[in-house]
Amino acid sequence: MPKLRPAFIWKSQREGEPVSLSPGEIARFRREIYRYYAVHGRRLPWRETRDPYAILVSEIMLQQTPVARVLPRYPVFLAAFPDFAALYRAPLSRVLEVWQGLGYPRRALALKETAGLVLEQHGGGLPPEPQELERLPGIGPATAGAVCAFAYERPVAFIETNIRRVFRHFFFPGEARVPDRELLPLVARTLDRRRVREWYYALMDYGVGLKSQTGAGNGLRKRQAPYGGSDRQVRGEILRTLLATPRLTVEEVASRLGREPARVRRLLAALQGEGFLLCRGQSWCIAGEEGAEGPP
Ligand code: ADE
Repeated sequence: MPKLRPAFIWKSQREGEPVSLSPGEIARFRREIYRYYAVHGRRLPWRETRDPYAILVSEIMLQQTPVARVLPRYPVFLAAFPDFAALYRAPLSRVLEVWQGLGYPRRALALKETAGLVLEQHGGGLPPEPQELERLPGIGPATAGAVCAFAYERPVAFIETNIRRVFRHFFFPGEARVPDRELLPLVARTLDRRRVREWYYALMDYGVGLKSQTGAGNGLRKRQAPYGGSDRQVRGEILRTLLATPRLTVEEVASRLGREPARVRRLLAALQGEGFLLCRGQSWCIAGEEGAEGPP
């Protein structure tokens, strides 16, 4: 890993004054980013496609799961659900099964809901405007921007973790707190409109390089709550149990997991409220599986 030091650092002019950049400075910044990308750019499967669906799937997966863990799951998911129609038609249980290993299954649910909305409201095509995309479940400004840039080559300014790290590094070195609202104008100003995809890939990869060099990220990383024994872990256990065996009572789920029935009851109710589960009489199952065969 080469030393990733900026060839130049703009002095922050934060006292109410936005950082201003001359065309020469912009060119220098781009050269630095592209030079690194030419050597260290990553080839990733979602960078090889222009299919908006496949790009959306990758961006949703990458929201909360590291690239290394997405890589093996991504082709499996696309093979199982190659387009919005296939995802929409698939039973939720199958979608959750294929999602296993990625964590945060709410994203799978949101993606499936998005598939329905795209088919019903957008004629089967993902809209190319960030504002429209952000109305869809599970899509925030970063995902909307990334989809517009990667699927439609739209010159939209957006910020995600790695991009944020690059702009902080170059333009606000040593500053503890820089809101995205101060970074966005710089992202817009430096955006290479002739090569939107390449430019954002290069920025992201530079950000990854910066992180691996300093080890510490940008000081902004939110610490994740410990997983062991957490509600998040037990929710995952409940979903896995009901995927394997539909129709169990609260007590049966609790006993299989060796967890407190009261806690299991509370989490079952929460999962039901979010659309993952259904309760018929006393028995719980994945939503859409009401008719599924349970144990005798
Ligand atoms: N390439 C395209 N989108 C990406 C992302 N969100 N993270 C890493 N690489 C990407």
